[in-house]
Amino acid sequence: MRHLIDSTDLTVQETQQVLDLALDIIDNRSAYSRVCEGKKLATLFYEPSTRTRLSFTSAMMELGGNVLGFSDAGTSSVSKGETVADTVRVVSAFADIIAMRHFKEGAPCIAAQYSRIPVINAGDGGHAHPTQTLTDLLSILRELGHLDNLTVGLCGDLKYGRTVHSLIKAMKRYEGIRFVLISPQELRLPDYIKNIMPSNFVETDTLEEALPMLDVLYMTRVQQERFADKNDYERLKDSFILDAKKMTLAKEKMIVLHPLPRVNEISTDVDSDPRAAYFRQVENGKFVRMALICTLLKKREEEHPDARETVPASQPCTNSRCISLSEPVVKRAYIDADGVERCAYCDHVLKNE
Ligand code: NCD
Repeated sequence: MRHLIDSTDLTVQETQQVLDLALDIIDNRSAYSRVCEGKKLATLFYEPSTRTRLSFTSAMMELGGNVLGFSDAGTSSVSKGETVADTVRVVSAFADIIAMRHFKEGAPCIAAQYSRIPVINAGDGGHAHPTQTLTDLLSILRELGHLDNLTVGLCGDLKYGRTVHSLIKAMKRYEGIRFVLISPQELRLPDYIKNIMPSNFVETDTLEEALPMLDVLYMTRVQQERFADKNDYERLKDSFILDAKKMTLAKEKMIVLHPLPRVNEISTDVDSDPRAAYFRQVENGKFVRMALICTLLKKREEEHPDARETVPASQPCTNSRCISLSEPVVKRAYIDADGVERCAYCDHVLKNE
């Protein structure tokens, strides 16, 4: 059974196949209008979402399939105390594929363990968001023509911004990628992502310094909902604002991406700049989800060649946002490249030796 829980669950080659399929769908829309006839997508959204849920819904509808699910956990059995594990066991009987968004980190990973149908992670807490990454890759490919030899600036909330985490993991696998990290001190990347970055990355706290070197500028919103202290959010929320004046420092061919929703971080005077690709990016999200749904439904029975090996965890996870603390699941771990034991659900360090 193939799922998409992490942006590296698809190899580079498989990622390219999904992107190629999305490009073919764009060119031959009507040829795909019935390929999912009789199939059902369940959208299980435990956390607010507009574009991701509608994008999945619209993708399945364009493939001729049907959609069921919930967009508010309060209206489902979750409000009666049902676990994620039980919910997906039940939903497996009603649908052919699941897209799940959850406020707990690792929830889709648990879902995949208990599901009889493919599970797609549509965003888990501040952890990962692999279908946004596919959207971003398709956008870069369509705008710039290639995914290698690029300098990519990631700006804003790199700590809680799950789209950034998934994008780095996927993009570092391409040749000649250089990341420029632009964030306030308090919102820097978590160490499990920093540890796997190519060593040539640059860190800066000014957008002006970064802009002239970039081919892609990936702007993000400061993730208000993940802050324990609202005063910290207020202090940090307007750290970086891209405006038309700053855009004069950028290359003529640079593109600006943003997973949206934007708050203040891109001034509306940038919208008319041809380099502003964020609204075109939204539509790419639908095409790439169409390609992903087709791919996973087809691959349903195939084995994953490089599935990550996990072992019983030596101790419970200490990340208060991790799903393994609230679900009665076997605690699992994996050993990273540095020999560090990490939680299999949310990637946090369990033990250092
Ligand atoms: C992102 C998300 O939900 O992580 N949005 C999206 O899926 N398009 C980014 C965000 O909420 O800031």
